[in-house]
Amino acid sequence: MSRPVKTIVVVGAGTMGSGIALTAAQCGLRAVQVDVSAAQLDKARGYHTKQFARLVEKQKMTADEAHAAASRLSYGADFAAVTDADCVVEAASENPDVKKKLFRAFAETFAADTLLATNTSSISITDIATAAGARASQVIGMHFFNPVPVMKLVEVIRGLATSDETVARTLDLARAMGKTPVPANDRAGFVSNRVLMPLINEAFYACMEGVATAEDIDQIMVLGCNFPMGPLRLADFIGLDVCHDIMMVLYRELGDAKFFPCPMLRQLVTSGRLGNKTNRGVFEYSR
Ligand code: CAA
Repeated sequence: MSRPVKTIVVVGAGTMGSGIALTAAQCGLRAVQVDVSAAQLDKARGYHTKQFARLVEKQKMTADEAHAAASRLSYGADFAAVTDADCVVEAASENPDVKKKLFRAFAETFAADTLLATNTSSISITDIATAAGARASQVIGMHFFNPVPVMKLVEVIRGLATSDETVARTLDLARAMGKTPVPANDRAGFVSNRVLMPLINEAFYACMEGVATAEDIDQIMVLGCNFPMGPLRLADFIGLDVCHDIMMVLYRELGDAKFFPCPMLRQLVTSGRLGNKTNRGVFEYSR
């Protein structure tokens, strides 16, 4: 019987990584947030501090609980410094070469029974696992959703080599983090992005063709389909570059033209209008 996950290393301190580390610490795990960028680590630390303050203010945590959760979080530039990790979750940029380089290093660094998880939103787990060599059976997809502390789902994706034990430990970990794990097979975009991205892409086509304004397309989907936010605002929220890259993975892997990114989406990405993170995408935002 393998030990439950108590210490988690989260590699990448962007939106997803900082949300995963926060959620883990809130749920009683020791979480080590790792990023090579000191600026990114500072940003993550600022986000965590702000969230704990909000949770206390909203009386969802006592000040003592928030203090204890904050003390379970630590920050560093090098995952190799954390020798007792039970699980590492990679939340680096959505680039297969970057991920494979990391998994090669994970396989050399972490203890023999450390879970090696990736938060990839579309890249093949089987492919990433090839970089882990003999440790491929411990590689698994743990796909969280933004904002991580709020969204209940973790899509759990097993690669060809993933062992039953790795799956079982990952399901336990997701539940320990207050999430509902749902399994999906290792096909491009898994289930979530296979379904969501074509919907978002179609909203761009509807906008480009003038079927309705961007505001009205979103309002129709919010009021008519009970979406919490319209598909175009959601695309801005996810990041238009991220949507574009996921569409390209779907297009390349599944070979169907329906997955090719809409010209309007491509143009916005080319012009650097990437959504909330650049204050401008389909819509404009103030910080
Ligand atoms: N971190 C922590 N908590 C956050 C948060 C964040 N970044 N953003 C919002 N929240 C919390 C708020 O504190 C608030 O908490 P309380 O209810 O306790 O007060 C709650 O979420 C609701 O927030 P708001 O009242 O500010 O705003 P809202 O009601 O409009 O909800 C939203 C905001 C949760 C983002 C909601 O609009 C929503 O669910 N949108 C859809 C999000 C979605 O679809 N995400 C998936 C994207 S796809 C993906 O991530 C995967 C991929 O591979 C691309």
